[in-house]
Amino acid sequence: MYGNDFNVPDEVAGAGLGAGAPGGPSHLLDEVAAAERALREAGAARVADPGVAADGDELLRYFDAVIEADQKIEPRDWMPDAYRQGLIRQIAQHAHSEIIGMQPEGNWISRAPSLKRKAILLAKVQDEAGHGLYLYAAAETLGVSRDALVELLLAGRQKYSSIFNYPTLTWADVGAIGWLVDGAAIVNQVPLCRCSYGPYARAMIRICKEESFHQRQGYEILHTLAHGTPGQKAMAQDAVNRWWYPSLAMFGPPDADSTHSQQSMTWKIKRFSNDELRQRFVDMCVQQASVLGLDIPDPDLRWNEQRQAHDYTQPDYTELMRVIKGDGPCNRQRAAHRHAAHADGAWVREAAAAYAAKRNAPTTKAAA
Ligand code: 3HC
Repeated sequence: MYGNDFNVPDEVAGAGLGAGAPGGPSHLLDEVAAAERALREAGAARVADPGVAADGDELLRYFDAVIEADQKIEPRDWMPDAYRQGLIRQIAQHAHSEIIGMQPEGNWISRAPSLKRKAILLAKVQDEAGHGLYLYAAAETLGVSRDALVELLLAGRQKYSSIFNYPTLTWADVGAIGWLVDGAAIVNQVPLCRCSYGPYARAMIRICKEESFHQRQGYEILHTLAHGTPGQKAMAQDAVNRWWYPSLAMFGPPDADSTHSQQSMTWKIKRFSNDELRQRFVDMCVQQASVLGLDIPDPDLRWNEQRQAHDYTQPDYTELMRVIKGDGPCNRQRAAHRHAAHADGAWVREAAAAYAAKRNAPTTKAAA
């Protein structure tokens, strides 16, 4: 969806959440639309294929030429094994994040303050499940099964985003997740619409369109609370205080400590470094926070005229590493819940498999 689904207050539109304002989702959605057009054009103009008899060197030259020409590598194409494995790692982590990410907000569905809020939150959490499915499907095109990836998640052998290991203590946290967590996710994910791997890029286009709705629903919750009673405003500020630094940490370690960025950027999987995207996110949030009337909890946040960007305090990367390694506030709870949900869902998987087997069985003509 492309917006105008709820009436954006004038000052909110001015803060980047309305039509075409710089830094806001509409602007980011313009980037998504441009990526979608580029994807179609790339599909229409393929670098000449080396043919089935090509040897290793020719195949590598072809792969490099496709990347260089900003076209897409498709599942049928030859690709270096490290490219394939790197994509499986990133796409699987991304898919797992969407699925585990349903938990902190799912926690609030039955306690949302009105029927309308419940319906919106329910739809949002369902969207996250859908994103997980698109992403597992994209990973499967690389030759790995969804079952295998889910097993790796359950065994703790693949990661999911650090951010989902923090608790949602109040209703305002649902607003802060929408504004900050989904906002960070969009900033990180819009460039992935231009990822060199076709199935991932195509999945990201749809995901980003939906994420823009998620961000605005969060912003609207916070806007309502921040313009409500003093108690509601304090609750909104408290949520922003708790989610700000974990949201900054979502972008990953600083560039100097990022293991995969350089290779990923050479292969045009990632288009920007972790620090570049983190900066972009901070710059986007500043004006939006001022419209909310809420403070970003960083006394050193200020505009740097020379850099044409905001200086800001870095998140605690030691904490990020601790959370990634399993020792965050909710890691154990999230893993236990996922194990229980997987076990509870066994009968659904069995029923779906039995139904599929029945549909695929050769039909025998009934005896006359
Ligand atoms: N949480 C958990 N692990 C993280 C992390 C984070 N926030 N940031 C980095 N890491 C891990 C990396 O996966 C890597 O570990 P590995 O080698 O075992 O895989 C290690 O830390 C070093 O980090 P790098 O910078 O070298 O890793 P990447 O180049 O892969 O960059 C990334 C990390 C920016 C998260 C990148 O993988 C990416 O853009 N992924 C796709 C987007 C994604 O997965 N987002 C997760 C949030 S999804 C979401 O928010 C859902 C929405 O509905 C809210």
